[in-house]
Amino acid sequence: MRSDIVVVGAGGHAKVCIELLRSMGESIACCVGGSDSPDLCLDVPVLRGDEHLVSLRAKGHFRLFVAIGSNRLRERLGTICVGHGYQLVNAISPHAIISPSAKLGRGVAVMAGVVINAESVIEDLAIINTGATVDHDCRVGQAVHIAPQCALAGNVTIGNLSFLGVGCKVIPEIQIGEHVTVGAGGVVICHIGSGATVVGVPTRVLNS
Ligand SMILES: CC(C)(COP(=O)(O)OP(=O)(O)OC[C@H]1O[C@@H](n2cnc3c(N)ncnc32)[C@H](O)[C@@H]1OP(=O)(O)O)[C@@H](O)C(=O)NCCC(=O)NCCS
Repeated sequence: MRSDIVVVGAGGHAKVCIELLRSMGESIACCVGGSDSPDLCLDVPVLRGDEHLVSLRAKGHFRLFVAIGSNRLRERLGTICVGHGYQLVNAISPHAIISPSAKLGRGVAVMAGVVINAESVIEDLAIINTGATVDHDCRVGQAVHIAPQCALAGNVTIGNLSFLGVGCKVIPEIQIGEHVTVGAGGVVICHIGSGATVVGVPTRVLNS
């Protein structure tokens, strides 16, 4: 068995995640990218094609991190990798502050400057990006991406696969559905149904 981590993805988000994992003392085995990926991601060699996931597993690799920004693709690849027998690890910055009563799933990324407060729940494959804050009792669903500098007040719920663009704010008790997109800088002051794209201050629906 190999303890070094296979990183799925070889783009900008993967670079950040590799550095996060190294800051936790982890070693990176390689990246698995697509046909158009570069040869290296930072200094990590990139294998092109998902078929490598099977051969790496056969060679004894079992710890893996999915470092892909697209929520749908991250969730899909996470499910495939678990099906191949991989264990999803978390990438948590030592410069994040996470309440001891918060709960984190698997395959979660928490970048530098993040604060996650009491009894919040972050589900599998979510990204809490640089400098975002998640206050008490929030629930951040599976494969959600909370972009840099977002602020969720207390008791906010974000459904699976939703995306909050850079710098969004959400007032307390708000429920945001699944597959929602909140545009950069949006201020959410009322509940948002699943599938909607909203923008502005306060947010208005672009489509649903
Ligand atoms: C919301 C978003 C996804 C919409 O993208 P899109 O579907 O390509 O939309 P368009 O650029 O065609 O804009 C559609 C309309 O919404 C407006 N709009 C788009 N994004 C907006 C935003 N963040 N705030 C306010 N208005 C916005 C546009 O001005 C345009 O208005 P108009 O129809 O009056 O001209 C995108 O603009 C956005 O904010 N993405 C966030 C990116 C981000 O934060 N990434 C972080 C990565 S870590």
